[in-house]
Amino acid sequence: MKILNIVGARPNFMKIAPLHREFTRREGFESKILHTGQHYDEKMSDVFFKQLGLPHPDFYLGIGGGSHTYQKAHVMLKFEEVLKEENPDLVLVVGDVNATVATTLVAKKMGFPVAHVEAGLRSGDRTMPEELNRIVTDSISDYLFVTEQSGMINLAKEGVPDDKVFFVGNVMVDSLVHFRKKAAEQSILEDIGVGKEEYILMTMHRPANVDNREGLESILSIIEDACKHKKVVFAIHPRTKNNLEKFALTDRLNAIEGLIPMGPLGYLQFLKLMDNASVIITDSGGIQEETTFLKVPCLTFRDTTERPSTVDIGTNFLMKDLNPVTVYKQLKDILEGNAKQGVVPTYWDGNAASRIADVIGEVFSK
Ligand code: UD1
Repeated sequence: MKILNIVGARPNFMKIAPLHREFTRREGFESKILHTGQHYDEKMSDVFFKQLGLPHPDFYLGIGGGSHTYQKAHVMLKFEEVLKEENPDLVLVVGDVNATVATTLVAKKMGFPVAHVEAGLRSGDRTMPEELNRIVTDSISDYLFVTEQSGMINLAKEGVPDDKVFFVGNVMVDSLVHFRKKAAEQSILEDIGVGKEEYILMTMHRPANVDNREGLESILSIIEDACKHKKVVFAIHPRTKNNLEKFALTDRLNAIEGLIPMGPLGYLQFLKLMDNASVIITDSGGIQEETTFLKVPCLTFRDTTERPSTVDIGTNFLMKDLNPVTVYKQLKDILEGNAKQGVVPTYWDGNAASRIADVIGEVFSK
């Protein structure tokens, strides 16, 4: 049973790590990793392989950055060659990045079965690149592994037959459970001079927020307001950094008193920072889930979420209009002690990869 696991961008690495560990541990499974190279540098990729205990990828396509069409087209051409040679029993993709959809299309065209982990999530916003990636990937994959109830409902509404869909929980939470203790041993808080709950943690990288001047100015206003209460640790994504420079806003950012600007952080350092933050402000997909598991309040700078359980039962709040005044009000409210308690969704327990391996083992033994 040869499984070819696909990774391309940062949020994929923590999802594939527990699956690769689980497949490798089991008799009868062979697990290989293909990295498309969408994220390619030390901080966005290599550090995750090291910290998550992933081996060097078996295949590296070296696609790098570029427009979405460029990335997908080049992945497709190179992946076709790998598939011809490798002939796996199953291609396994995770999440919603460009690598996910590009490799799924090629695999299905060539007659290989595909498993999609984190299937069924829908924001309803088709202007998000990830939403199109999710819809296309789900509609042609053979085995759909779902993290939360909304995913089951969405796939049923779209007419996906029940026997293709498996409710298994969240592999990203598997990584979090596995590495939480190791993360706690990291020295990042001392290194930057903050204590538990003494800071607000922030990340921003969605094109809708950071590819335009207004979005970036709103983000800066929010940081300026937040810094009146607590220090703000801002882990700055390369897209955001590039755009701050492009719109000549870097000086305004650096002038904010109480701000601790940082580049992209390693998995363990960022996990420790999340676990000890008083509040997290983000527009990430995955951080909404991680904060729900950790029960840390999260303000998500987006109109919609494909992960509604994080809002309905978790500790996440959606900041529907990107208005700094509204965000500040909500932030103050939380800092004054009015955060939600939060409940962790079903099967977010560290065992999702094991459930997935059980299903795959069973299906392929028939
Ligand atoms: C991608 C994913 C997004 C995910 C995010 C996490 C898609 C459609 N988007 O967006 O879902 O939330 O990753 O980070 O797949 N860059 C570097 N070093 C790297 C990689 C990228 O500097 O190792 C730069 C690129 O040159 C580019 C920018 O970062 O300027 C953005 O990279 P890109 O691949 O376009 O996607 P993300 O915005 O990171």
